[in-house]
Amino acid sequence: MKKSFFPIAAICIAILTGCAKAPANHPTDEPFRSVYHHSPLAGWMNDPNGMYYDAQTGLWHLYYQHNPFGTTWGPMHWAHSTSADLVHWEHHPIAIAPDSLGTIFSGSCVIDRNNTAGFGENALIAIYTQSEVCGQNQSISYSTDGGQTFTSYEGNPVLMGDIADFRDPKVFWDEISNRWIMSLACQQEIRFYGSANLKDWTFLSRFGEGYGCHDGVWECPDLIKVQGDNIQGTKESKWVLLVNINPGGPFGGSATQYFVGDWDGKKFNEVPSNQVPSTKWLDYGKDHYATVTWAYAPEDRIVAIGWMSNWQYANQLPTVAFRSQNTVARDLSLYIDDEGEYRVAVKPSPESLAIRGEEIKRPSDACVIDLELDGSRDALITLSNDKGEKVVMTLDVHRQTFSMDRTASGDCSFSHDFAANTTTPLFVKRDAYHLILFIDHCSIEAFDSEGAWAMTNLVFPSVPYNHLDVQGGEAKIFNVR
Ligand code: FRU
Repeated sequence: MKKSFFPIAAICIAILTGCAKAPANHPTDEPFRSVYHHSPLAGWMNDPNGMYYDAQTGLWHLYYQHNPFGTTWGPMHWAHSTSADLVHWEHHPIAIAPDSLGTIFSGSCVIDRNNTAGFGENALIAIYTQSEVCGQNQSISYSTDGGQTFTSYEGNPVLMGDIADFRDPKVFWDEISNRWIMSLACQQEIRFYGSANLKDWTFLSRFGEGYGCHDGVWECPDLIKVQGDNIQGTKESKWVLLVNINPGGPFGGSATQYFVGDWDGKKFNEVPSNQVPSTKWLDYGKDHYATVTWAYAPEDRIVAIGWMSNWQYANQLPTVAFRSQNTVARDLSLYIDDEGEYRVAVKPSPESLAIRGEEIKRPSDACVIDLELDGSRDALITLSNDKGEKVVMTLDVHRQTFSMDRTASGDCSFSHDFAANTTTPLFVKRDAYHLILFIDHCSIEAFDSEGAWAMTNLVFPSVPYNHLDVQGGEAKIFNVR
């Protein structure tokens, strides 16, 4: 449950740090502060918002749901960070703050190249939900200073809600219908709206009933065209609709489901699936939510980032001055699994892989581990520390699964929902499996190196893991540059 909390210490920290431009490269001010994952300097963070790549400056912009007054969910603002490499982040002053129309919930940014909205050629326009006691509506604001400050449109809101959950607009310019398209999460369906000017919106279609998981509220959608990866021979591209859902995730609480299909400029249709269960998850861990993609990423890449937490316990995590961090950046593409099913391949972005430094002998508090596992026998990978805390990962070649057990990983006491053993199907059978593990101060992200699956889990060991035991394969450990 989300609730407001405003500790005085956090307010002071926010005033001293969060509101000033300050470099945040590798901050290690408290034990669970991530070294190479994006986190707020102080205060609360949830969903990543409004991400866009600015080709002029080479900067990746990341806004995010932020409560500057405390370390739990509260009055939402859009905070702002930028990075040249998706790893080192600079924090900027808050970009959009609540006003008389409500607090600032999740949304997206577009560059208005043809001045369709009248705020100027190439104005950056943020489209987001304003939440108030009587409901949720969509508003827009524009920036003409490179995304640092925004002016809200005097005609806000531009789209009024007609149901309680009516939020998280993700907008793109659609070449098929030659207009702006908005995907909006509306309880348990995604609605699509079209507009010529970002101000007047017309309902086009809905998607959801009878598809995917409905055990929670649908949030933070993203409609993207994803390119074939040539894995199993597909180069064809498909439209993918990402839909975050809370609760209802495969291991309880929050998770990201997706649908592979076609978009005709008005309606999204899923490609029929023979799979039971048919729900496709973008990540098979417990701590991967609100995932959406960057607009205008170079070379037509689809680059995603997720909030590395779960609403089941996000407000209770054992950090002090801040709460939450984001996943490493991931590149998405399309592949076909052994059952002939279209799936989204999730690979660490080249920028995330570039953090691998020198090879070292033992794991450290922040490192990357490459695993080469024999596909003909089971493998057991144990990461442990001097206190006997451990994370046990298993490759089961008979069942064709990979799992990560964090029940003895360290502090699990803050929530009875935290201890978990998460499992993913392998989707593609191989003679050998190359896995990549990203270890940071409080997280483990496991990837099939070819992107067949990903698994993201938080861990809170009392001292860093410094032993690695691999049965059924070889490991190489790299420090982080
Ligand atoms: C998802 C979410 C969004 C909403 C935001 C509010 O985590 O609930 O649907 O816009 O968080 O902070």
